[in-house]
Amino acid sequence: MKNIIIANWKMNPRKLFGARKILEAVLKVAQNVENAEIIICPPFVFLSDLIKLDNFITLKLDNLFFGAQNCFYESEGAYTGEISGAMLKNLGCQYVILGHSERRESFSETDEVINKKIKLALASSLKPIFCVGEKDGEEMSKIIEQQLKAGLKDVEMARVKKIIIAYEPVWAIGTGNSCSPEKAMEATLLIRRILSQLYERKIADGTAIIYGGSVNDKNAGDYIKISRMNGLLVGGASLNAKIFTNIIKNLQ
Ligand code: PGA
Repeated sequence: MKNIIIANWKMNPRKLFGARKILEAVLKVAQNVENAEIIICPPFVFLSDLIKLDNFITLKLDNLFFGAQNCFYESEGAYTGEISGAMLKNLGCQYVILGHSERRESFSETDEVINKKIKLALASSLKPIFCVGEKDGEEMSKIIEQQLKAGLKDVEMARVKKIIIAYEPVWAIGTGNSCSPEKAMEATLLIRRILSQLYERKIADGTAIIYGGSVNDKNAGDYIKISRMNGLLVGGASLNAKIFTNIIKNLQ
């Protein structure tokens, strides 16, 4: 499986100009990358322009994809302010981040809402990047099990293969206090064990599991080598073109 390196820009940068600058730097590096898939998740409003820029500069690289940071659980209708999976797919998006702790916390997204979003995203042919992880003081195994089981409720075996599971301990996000590679390895093994209980061994082994939470160009390699993660979900460091491209290059 290729390493999956995902940029979650959150509500940044302020202007399209800044977004284009980061993408241009990533495209330059991505053209020489063979064993990694790069997924850029900008704010909704920049997606269309950035996808066009990628097509223009590279005629669409086969290792660079775009994802959204959220989508709604209905495909169309009277839902002011929401964006559907079908809209994103039609724009050229392949992925969508769901269950991020910032959405759980600041927008009160429950496991049930996240489950609906995952199912609608899959039905819209988008691949969910499904985030799970415990808060400070919570028991990792209990929370991961609960969030995985609730988020994947009624998700069929044929579709679950399309999901990337991101282990993101909430206490590590944006704090500089990254998870130790050993603890992240525990999470990898635990997630595979739960997936094999819910589905079957083959699915558990074939699912991409990635780490997120204060990843930078110094610690990135450890999560791949020591934690046996299949990739990384990078927040703050993905807004710095130099650091983010270093992460990509170092994993070559
Ligand atoms: P961080 O964010 O890399 O800034 O900690 C990760 C995330 O929220 O996905």
